[in-house]
Amino acid sequence: MFNKKSSLFPKKGRPQEKVLRELKERGSEDIRWQEGRSFAYIYQADKQLDNFVRQAYLHYMKENPVNPGAFPGLKQMAREVVNMAGQLFHLPKGGSGTFTSGGSESIFLAVLAARNRFQKIKPEKQAEIVLPSTAHPSFHKAAHYFGMKIRISPVNRSFQASAQAMQALITENTALLVASAPSFPHGMVDPIAEIGQVAAQHHIPLHVDACVGGFVLPFLKRGGVQVPDFDFAVEGVSSLSADLHKYGYAAKGASLVFFRETALRRKSFFAFTDWPGGLYGSTHITGSRSGGAIAAAWALMQHLGLEGYTRLAMQAWEARQKILSGLAKFPELYVLGQPQLTLFALASDQIDMYELADELSAMGWYIERQQAPPSLHFNITATHKKVAANFLQDLEKALEKTRKKNGSSFRQTLSERLLTGLHWLLPEKLFAKLRHQLVGLLPENSPQKPSAPLYGMTEPLKKTGNLEELIKDFLE
Ligand SMILES: Cc1ncc(COP(=O)(O)O)c(C=O)c1O
Repeated sequence: MFNKKSSLFPKKGRPQEKVLRELKERGSEDIRWQEGRSFAYIYQADKQLDNFVRQAYLHYMKENPVNPGAFPGLKQMAREVVNMAGQLFHLPKGGSGTFTSGGSESIFLAVLAARNRFQKIKPEKQAEIVLPSTAHPSFHKAAHYFGMKIRISPVNRSFQASAQAMQALITENTALLVASAPSFPHGMVDPIAEIGQVAAQHHIPLHVDACVGGFVLPFLKRGGVQVPDFDFAVEGVSSLSADLHKYGYAAKGASLVFFRETALRRKSFFAFTDWPGGLYGSTHITGSRSGGAIAAAWALMQHLGLEGYTRLAMQAWEARQKILSGLAKFPELYVLGQPQLTLFALASDQIDMYELADELSAMGWYIERQQAPPSLHFNITATHKKVAANFLQDLEKALEKTRKKNGSSFRQTLSERLLTGLHWLLPEKLFAKLRHQLVGLLPENSPQKPSAPLYGMTEPLKKTGNLEELIKDFLE
């Protein structure tokens, strides 16, 4: 399908229609999200709404909010989006927010502000973050970039953070506490009120990561679903991230970060005055970016209003209920914890979940694999309401096939033992070569590629300290 020639810079250009046709073909092996067959990466309501978002995005695609003064219309739209969402999250007077390119950037800015606040007080110490084991990896990434140390707090049997366990990890160097609303892996909202109390007692900022839940929790509540408080209404919450490009159904490149006190946000700003190119100031990690994401988010919020968002949240909720009640038919499967929103993880003590995922992938569904314990991750969005029954039928078929593959756990044990044995036997260089070969097992080129063999090997690789290197081999 791929035209190998086009990886060479063409000497002569090609007609636009031909290029566009080929560009479209390039997506033919992608996950089939347009049909509602992906439970990851894509947040979709319906085609008509997507087209509206696309139009708004294209209108401001070339504009560059890196200099808001040059595009006052975009600046005003970003400000309005921040204000509208600020009301949703009970941001008090004196607080402020920033429109960012995604959850990771929102988290980076919150972590940076907390680190800079800490460094001002204790410049000679290394700042630390206390977070639950279920917190998103972008906090670890931020700590890696900003030279901070992470202290990981275990979660309870329901995969929820424990305020007590987090308190026990606080030291004189703690610069930030983190809680999720909800955590991505299990859809569990951490006990924000309790963690907020700990934060307030110790005068440490608390960041609530509502990247995935921020634009569904308030609307489920409006729709009559009981959900916990998670935002600035809770004492002790000092910053919060919420992604418009997740349950806000906006175009990718749209997230918000809020600070209870504007003075804390300011600590994430950057200014440089000695550049011959002029005076430089930045509120973001990114530099140039498209204005499209701001325009699309603004347009969608104006179009849907609180009522429209509530309708979409309840549509996703109905799909979630339909799938969860359908799962009751399969006694070997169970949901981890007691997820309160529209995302959850499915596990089993009897069958190999990675084999099950591979069977579903072969049928055209896309589901994320998780670990500790092996589980499958479901992000239910409004579009899944129409495919829920279909999915349950396919799940039944996939389960039947997986049950028949009883040999897989034996195979897995064998491959684990083999790998551990090889690690002891082979010189380091040779083992690195073998690890490099394993990269071929990663699903780079096709979402349909089986992942069970790879996941069978992660434990021994982790034990021998080779898993991180395998991931970097893959990235390379
Ligand atoms: C809870 C949570 N936080 C942060 C992020 C990072 O968001 P992004 O991928 O937009 O950078 C995600 C992404 O899924 C998430 O689920």
